[in-house]
Amino acid sequence: MRREPGKSVVLIGFMGCGKSTMGIRLSYRLQYILEDTDKLIEAGAGMSVREIFAREGEEAFREMETQLLCKLTEKKGPRVYSVGGGTPVRTANRSLLKSLGTVVYLRTRPETVYERLKTDTSRPLLQGEDPLGKIRSLMAEREQAYAETADVILDVDEMSPDQVVESIMWNIR
Ligand code: S3P
Repeated sequence: MRREPGKSVVLIGFMGCGKSTMGIRLSYRLQYILEDTDKLIEAGAGMSVREIFAREGEEAFREMETQLLCKLTEKKGPRVYSVGGGTPVRTANRSLLKSLGTVVYLRTRPETVYERLKTDTSRPLLQGEDPLGKIRSLMAEREQAYAETADVILDVDEMSPDQVVESIMWNIR
């Protein structure tokens, strides 16, 4: 794939795959503005994602994601986008994500996510009984949506953050 110079990069993947961390590193490396959709939604709502789920429900959060993606498509200039793990699930979001830039899917195994997030309380969908089982089933449900949206798929379980950045840079060149 030949990438147009100055084309934006969109990071997608399951919770805990490293989208936010890689977003920061990649935006620094490319010198592009970073747009982290979870953070933008939290800032706009004046609440954490966890609070939005608890007070307004998941559907309200999904609507906020779609509205935000629509607004982001109007912005000029190359950016790095890091989006929530559930964003590509809605069909409408998939075309919005693609229209934003080159979509890179940071793919992980369920066990990697579990190890990274087993003490995390900020992801409402992974709270409660059997988080590993929940990760496995949600990931299986979403795999096709992720793969279908992606221009590039990277298996990042065994990679260091530096290796992930280098691999993204190589793949989007
Ligand atoms: C979600 C992922 C979260 C956040 C919300 C829902 C999901 O973002 O958007 O908790 O449905 O996978 P991260 O992928 O950044 O954790």
